[in-house]
Amino acid sequence: MNQTVEQLLSHYSVRAFLDKPLSDDQIRLLVESAQAASTSNFVQAYSIIGVSDPKIRRELARISGGMSYVEKTGQLFVFVADLNRNKQIAESKKENPASLETTEKMLVAIIDAALAAQNMAVAAEAMGLGICYIGAIRNDIERVSALLNIPEHAIPLFGLTIGYPEQNSAPKPRMPYQLVYHENEYQAKETALYEAYDTTISDYYTNRTGGVRNETWTDQIAEGMKKPVRMDMKAFIEKQKLGLK
Ligand SMILES: Cc1cc2nc3c(=O)[nH]c(=O)nc-3n(C[C@H](O)[C@H](O)[C@H](O)COP(=O)(O)O)c2cc1C
Repeated sequence: MNQTVEQLLSHYSVRAFLDKPLSDDQIRLLVESAQAASTSNFVQAYSIIGVSDPKIRRELARISGGMSYVEKTGQLFVFVADLNRNKQIAESKKENPASLETTEKMLVAIIDAALAAQNMAVAAEAMGLGICYIGAIRNDIERVSALLNIPEHAIPLFGLTIGYPEQNSAPKPRMPYQLVYHENEYQAKETALYEAYDTTISDYYTNRTGGVRNETWTDQIAEGMKKPVRMDMKAFIEKQKLGLK
């Protein structure tokens, strides 16, 4: 199999790292790999904040619910959907940035940031490093924004912790591809495919946790749909003056 594809199929999140910082060269290569991702209309509407300050890391780890791998890592990156830069540029050219606060432009920035992050993740794994995304920084988006000095027209989306893995793991089985892939139109999928996947995931958890966990995937999804979380996001995004139109 092609080496790149093999690497993609071998991905797993790493949640324990050595206390060994990445070098400046590694950080630069990771950021440049992120920047090489495709970007809507060439807007490059994101910023990446590298958090090396132990005090800020500690606070971000606390906000994230005490995840040690936010603090003890090679480098912690925070990906920011960033239209502030575009606003500054438009204004410097005496243009009215009329599209700035549209939902479409916000989507563009979020998609750009996510693509860049995944490029960085793939590059990191190719360099023998481990990665884990940290959406839990959004547990307190206001505090994170204050800590990182985020301006209006920008949203800190998630962290990406990258370092030297302290332990190895194995890929978590994904849905059978037939559940994800639709030909020509959106198609209803057979229940049997979900049932088979439920068995796979329940077995996966049973083996990994010695039986402490054994839930199915659809149980997990249904549970996650019950309770709205981070209900402050809408107000935060409005306060940042994004997605208003
Ligand atoms: C945007 C995003 C946010 C995530 N946030 C967290 C997080 O806060 N903490 C964590 O431990 N894992 C987090 N993850 C990792 C997922 O839990 C993980 O990717 C998923 O369970 C699949 O496991 P795998 O990456 O090992 O294949 C996040 C993943 C993504 C894409």
